[in-house]
Amino acid sequence: MMQAVTQNFEVRRLGETFFAEIVGLDLSEPLDEPSFARVKKAHLDHGVVVFRDQRLTPEQHIAFSQRFGSLQIHPMGQFNLEKYPEILLVSTDKHPDGRPVGIADAGRYWHTDMAYMKEPALGSLLYARAIPAEGGDTMFADMTAAYESLPVEMKERLSKLRAIHHFGSRWSREQKKAGLRPPQTKEEQERNPPVEHPMVRTHPETGRKAIYAGGFTVGVAGMPEDEASALLDWVETHVTQPHCVYRHKWRLHDLVFWDNRCAMHHATEFPEHMRRHMHRTTVKGDAPFFAA
Ligand code: SIN
Repeated sequence: MMQAVTQNFEVRRLGETFFAEIVGLDLSEPLDEPSFARVKKAHLDHGVVVFRDQRLTPEQHIAFSQRFGSLQIHPMGQFNLEKYPEILLVSTDKHPDGRPVGIADAGRYWHTDMAYMKEPALGSLLYARAIPAEGGDTMFADMTAAYESLPVEMKERLSKLRAIHHFGSRWSREQKKAGLRPPQTKEEQERNPPVEHPMVRTHPETGRKAIYAGGFTVGVAGMPEDEASALLDWVETHVTQPHCVYRHKWRLHDLVFWDNRCAMHHATEFPEHMRRHMHRTTVKGDAPFFAA
């Protein structure tokens, strides 16, 4: 067992309202408590952090992620790394028989991870093992800044609403759109029935409020479909205004850790012949709540 060590590192804000980079840290070594506390604070202060220049085995990636909580296993098990089900593969690679090893077009829409579960993800840690020479950036939206810039009457309106989230609806939409994913089996469809969460959630650690609706949202409880769809479109336009968005250009061996409780993300396209291969762990969070 390696000894936990103190490490000195720098935290630099990159985005206007959120997103920071952390340089000078080696996550392949276990961090001692004071260093870990600084990392945790940086994550809470900035919502998304990128640890530059990491060299991580799956075990080290998992061990660091587990310091933030227990890990969630992605429901589409065939895309989890063999022997390491805690790692979801976001990858263009193929098995020798042509089957995709991972979800090549994961997250090409605004969303927060696992929003379709009763206890959605606290955070996700995405590690770049191969990146394309062009494209393939990930955009992030600061849902706290988005909430804070809402008109007062909209803050009040959204705070009273509950959104409905459903994994299967999104999966089948993406499956039909790009044809890169297999359809879900009946068993996979039944595993994650729709769930409701408040549309504004209070962050359990910072106490700040953030909008909570995105790509897995299929409706608003008690609201007619066309009204809900117009409202959800309005919300997406609002939260993706330039002052709320930071676009991350990946460098090889970046590990990006986002807080799904207050940030959405959206993967972008890249030329089809280029390789992109990422490992993702997902830390389980609490059931979202709204505290007035
Ligand atoms: C994801 O939504 O987890 C994938 C993001 C990305 O590949 O950039």
